[in-house]
Amino acid sequence: MKIILLGAPGTGKGTQAKYISVKYHIPHISTGDMLRKEIDKKTNLGKIIKSSISKGKLISDDILFLLIKSRIKKKDCKNGFLLDGFPRTLCQAIYLKNKNIKINIVLNFIVPKNILIQRIVGRMIHISSGRIYHTQFNPPKKKGIDDVTGEPLIRRKDDNVISLKYRLLEYRKKTVPLIKFYIKEKKLKNLNYYEIDGCKNSKEINNLLDKLFFENKKN
Ligand code: AP5
Repeated sequence: MKIILLGAPGTGKGTQAKYISVKYHIPHISTGDMLRKEIDKKTNLGKIIKSSISKGKLISDDILFLLIKSRIKKKDCKNGFLLDGFPRTLCQAIYLKNKNIKINIVLNFIVPKNILIQRIVGRMIHISSGRIYHTQFNPPKKKGIDDVTGEPLIRRKDDNVISLKYRLLEYRKKTVPLIKFYIKEKKLKNLNYYEIDGCKNSKEINNLLDKLFFENKKN
């Protein structure tokens, strides 16, 4: 199964991607995580990426194409994958279509802006695994420490109100047009498109996704 997760920053794409990936054994491809790993390598490319991400700007399509192309070629993607954060521009969506990559399901997570701010400013992550926590909604067992490895959690550099403002602007300008694109693909019966109420708690969303995958398996 090939799945795309759409949604503004903080709508819960990464959180639900982890759930789907473990439960349904589908590799989770987060372009945000891939780009942050590139930053950690301190390469020239990493420096360019770091500057754009901290300003809340999108990275160029060409860089994303290189990353995605080499990732989905890997053996574990043979039976499908879960794209979290890609595509994010019409050009990226058309790239997938032109490569004849047949997407089965698009999940669009919807959450109002005031809740997004709360989620973004409280988020903490474990950098090497990408595990996601929240100081209030999903706190680690021990403050500031990853539950599994005992390593420290960090705050993302772009998780502040100013970067979020620019991330939301980019989202509206460049990613929102994808919604129309995928609704049209649904009408053409090329895939299934669902809007998910991301304000529900994580468990409720897990259950909703289970039902939805069950329905898709039957059909
Ligand atoms: P990326 O890492 O993809 O960030 P994003 O899209 O901004 O999304 P987030 O990771 O912020 O949010 P999320 O929806 O995954 O929410 P999460 O589950 O963590 O991209 C970062 C940057 O990289 C971009 O700005 C861009 O510069 C660049 N980039 C990436 N892909 C690109 C592309 N294709 N093209 C160009 N540039 C690209 O949840 C958020 C918080 O809420 C967490 O603390 C979580 O615990 C909590 N939470 C989650 N669900 C719930 C719930 N149901 N109830 C309560 N709390 C919840």
